[in-house]
Amino acid sequence: MPASKKVFVKTYGCQMNVYDSERMTEALAASGYAETSQIETADLVVMNTCHIRERAVEKVYSELGKVRDIRDARRARGLDTQVVVAGCVAQAEGAEIIARAPVVDVVVGPQSYHRLPELLYRSRSEASRVVETQFPDGEKFAGLPDRSITPLRGDGSVQQASAFLTVQEGCDKFCTFCVVPYTRGSEYSRAVSDLVAETERLVTRGVREITLLGQNVNGYHGEGLDGRTWSLARLISRIAEVDGVDRLRYMTSHPRDMTDDLIAAHRDQPKLMPFLHLPVQSGSDRILAAMNRKHTAKEYLEILHRARTARPDIAISTDIIVGFPGETEKDFAATLALIERVGFAQAYSFKYSSRPGTPAAKIDDQIPEAVKAERLARLQELLDGQQTRFNANFVGKTVPVLFERKGRSSGQLVGRSPYLQLVHADADSAFLGRIVPVEIAAAGQNSLAGVICGL
Ligand code: SAH
Ligand code: SF4
Ligand code: F3S
Repeated sequence: MPASKKVFVKTYGCQMNVYDSERMTEALAASGYAETSQIETADLVVMNTCHIRERAVEKVYSELGKVRDIRDARRARGLDTQVVVAGCVAQAEGAEIIARAPVVDVVVGPQSYHRLPELLYRSRSEASRVVETQFPDGEKFAGLPDRSITPLRGDGSVQQASAFLTVQEGCDKFCTFCVVPYTRGSEYSRAVSDLVAETERLVTRGVREITLLGQNVNGYHGEGLDGRTWSLARLISRIAEVDGVDRLRYMTSHPRDMTDDLIAAHRDQPKLMPFLHLPVQSGSDRILAAMNRKHTAKEYLEILHRARTARPDIAISTDIIVGFPGETEKDFAATLALIERVGFAQAYSFKYSSRPGTPAAKIDDQIPEAVKAERLARLQELLDGQQTRFNANFVGKTVPVLFERKGRSSGQLVGRSPYLQLVHADADSAFLGRIVPVEIAAAGQNSLAGVICGL
């Protein structure tokens, strides 16, 4: 179908939303929508939202105010604009969104994206608002069109060097602070055959690195090629066999599902990159119990010890929350002590944000904002120092870099090291999509810079 209309997609939140936005964009392309990066020209605006913290939600509503102004300006010129809210705010707030932001035509939860073209049609033909927040397990992936096959660009460079692939969705862990089990539903794993087929299509775009995604990716338990249940480690070894795949990563893992076979894969599977993102949330056992994490600080350190024994150079990353209800200065000191012991290559840290409907929101002892802010600043100072030191260690070393995109200054490309560090180097765009040895000349907190060997 020729593209006659334009869609603007804005993505908030985690990588799973990035993946979903790509799938929605491809589904909409099949119904005649071409993607645009200019919202004023869009006949359709899709906001793929995140509910994880209060600020994320407020951002969506303030953005919807701007979308209303743009729609009104277009209307004055005789142009129609449809507005969709997708993602975790859609799932959590449903019809409430339309009450608060009447500009919205369609509210669609993360499990119903395969129905988006039909929901848009319904809203248009019935001139009504449509809200769809069902949880039909797995239907979404079966109902979405196959990934499009996109050959090389005109200049011969690849379309995409690194891609996300959602292998598992949802969460049954119910950490007491978290909305994900409510917005994404219970754990569901896609079948291995499906994932191999999607990988083969991604490779046609020039993709050489695949990041397997899931809210609890290491809890993956999908139907294997032999009809039995396969673990993430088995899935990784099968995807690694796909011709053209050179690098594999996975995100995000839960400490409770860090099985021996997955740790062994870091030793035995050369395509699995030496990087482990393993959220710990807190270093205090008392807080970890109140969070319902079901592991202690010691158990977390033991997992990292096993991972480092299997793959001594593995880079460790984490998520940490400060100011969980009841967190004392002593609890917080335990978090700092854990960080000191681990030495993280990178980390995401957040102030606890009370989420309606979660058990932690009902705990009386909420921590004042100023205390949270002060603890976060101390925590980030420690983490920033660790990240800077981790990167500084690479100066003078040579690392293989997969170049993914052009840099801001001309003649420069940006890629990733095996340890997920951003690496800048002067290089021709013919290097996009290639893995090349780069000698690191300089290191900062957030990136490395180097020179391609042999150039
Ligand atoms: N599934 C992953 C991460 C999900 S959300 C896991 O199990 O760890 C990403 C991160 O957001 C979490 O790791 C946590 O650190 C943070 N987060 C989740 N809910 C939060 C809340 N209510 N307040 C602050 N941070 C939160
Ligand atoms: Fe949220 Fe916990 Fe599930 Fe992660 S494991 S998504 S933090 S409930
Ligand atoms: Fe946000 Fe939903 Fe991801 S709440 S972090 S977009 S799973």
